[in-house]
Amino acid sequence: MTAVAAALVFSQRSRNLIQSNRLDYRFYFVRDSVSVTHYLPRKSTHYMEYFTTTSAASRRASGCIIIGVYERGNKGIAATDVDAASGGQISKLIKRGDISGNPGSCTVLTSIAGVKAQRIAVVGLGSKSKFGISAYRRAIAAAISAVKGSKVEDIVNYLTLENVADTSAYYLARYATETIGNAIYSFTEMKTKRKKPSSKLRKIGHAIASRGDAAKSKQGSQHAIAIVEGMSLCRDLGNLPANVCTPSFLARTAQKLARQHTKLETRVINEPEMKRLGMHALLSVTAGTKEPAKLIVMQYKGAVRQQPVVLVGKGVTFDSGGISLKPGPGMDEMKFDMCGAASVIGTMATVARLKLPINLTVVVPTCENMPGNYATRPGDIITSMSGLTIEVLNTDAEGRLILCDALTYSRRFKPALMIDVATLTGACIIALGHHRTAVMSPDDEIASSITKAGIAADDRSWHMPMGEEYMRQLRSNFADFANIGGRDGGSVTAACFLGKFTEGIDWAHLDIAGTAWHSGSRKGATGRPVPMLTEILLSRAGVLP
Ligand code: BES
Ligand code: MN
Ligand code: ZN
Repeated sequence: MTAVAAALVFSQRSRNLIQSNRLDYRFYFVRDSVSVTHYLPRKSTHYMEYFTTTSAASRRASGCIIIGVYERGNKGIAATDVDAASGGQISKLIKRGDISGNPGSCTVLTSIAGVKAQRIAVVGLGSKSKFGISAYRRAIAAAISAVKGSKVEDIVNYLTLENVADTSAYYLARYATETIGNAIYSFTEMKTKRKKPSSKLRKIGHAIASRGDAAKSKQGSQHAIAIVEGMSLCRDLGNLPANVCTPSFLARTAQKLARQHTKLETRVINEPEMKRLGMHALLSVTAGTKEPAKLIVMQYKGAVRQQPVVLVGKGVTFDSGGISLKPGPGMDEMKFDMCGAASVIGTMATVARLKLPINLTVVVPTCENMPGNYATRPGDIITSMSGLTIEVLNTDAEGRLILCDALTYSRRFKPALMIDVATLTGACIIALGHHRTAVMSPDDEIASSITKAGIAADDRSWHMPMGEEYMRQLRSNFADFANIGGRDGGSVTAACFLGKFTEGIDWAHLDIAGTAWHSGSRKGATGRPVPMLTEILLSRAGVLP
């Protein structure tokens, strides 16, 4: 190989594709329409490189450096250096009130004499004694939203030099890179008019206090870039409308992902095979729509002779409630009812991208929940794949019906650990709000390992109970049990329902009803819980520092 060719290979390897699995819109069917629109596939041009630096903030040539100031004008390490190099510019601006230490604030300075960077994003860090992960991430996000509209191509984060409570060089780089990747994400695929220009950012650097931290910081960035790729795929799938992101679209996306990774295979089970398998719980939900249901099975083999982790994701591409129709206001948000599916497919993209030495299987039951003359009626009794009979007292409790057959099907993989992820209950939002995912498991140790992973990944959850006393609420006069257990403890009874199908398996259930998307002016999918799921898998792969 010539030196030039070798250099090229090297630079290609060191480049890290971010948000590469953008979706293919060429096959974009609008239901009941013969037209196939001509949306181009999202281009895979979003590259991100990462690096570390030991040079002082004032001496680093770059498009933008991020430095911080605490409340009461207390300058951080890099701000002190920049202040000295610029003849007291920072102190002057603090005195004038143009720079604030308030969390979330950001002042962008340009062309400061004595400082090599083109821009200086001075962010507020709040109280120095309370400076922790959330203030750190908030400050990074403030800096990015201030400069992302500019032509900045590289950013160096100097907040890593501060004393951030409960963390390490690895996680500081990972959180910041993840925050940056998510802040520059935008979803303009469905707009025809001039789209917002996408960010020009191509390089993210983190300051390190000593060379000894370089490898850990780079590993944190590498993992974060893969996590952002998974989250972006998850967010794209969630944000696409239900007339585009159908069960067939999800299946094609999973197949496309498998074509990009040699260790990944995707198989799609169609309705005739579901019938042969006896998946009448899943089939009862799809009965009211003509959009075909799919069961997507993705198998990633990164290890030999090892039982897989199985992730099962609820993929209801639109939940109208069925015959138990939902009320009108906000019903559009039920296009997000496939965010469990999107998060496990996104996590698969992350794992495949990182080539983790583990086995991972993703199972996605996906369909629409619609009313119609063939739709399942309240009171209908169905036989699930497990053989247990279910009285469908409310057709809007459909998630557990598609999941129970997917969980039964997944037993064949002899999972080392099985986790299902679902926007399962409105009651979960009543219990925990929008900040935390609910974790339920008959095994307290599994639940606590998941909540710990959520803390490490800064994608947090809360352990809720399960138990026989709740299971009793699901009693039915006619079938083995009913699909609803009343208003009280609605998230717990939903988990208990699923627990009937996972006996003897190490299993946990994540209810992401409150965390999978934002409503209001920030309406859109969040990409959660991809970071938490990835953390569990990174830890099992033994690749965390
Ligand atoms: N997908 C919904 C749960 C949901 C509602 C998530 C709102 C996020 C926001 C689920 O299928 C559902 O409708 N659950 C019912 C269950 C009830 C009928 C027992 C609910 O929560 O109301
Ligand atoms: Mn529902
Ligand atoms: Zn639903």
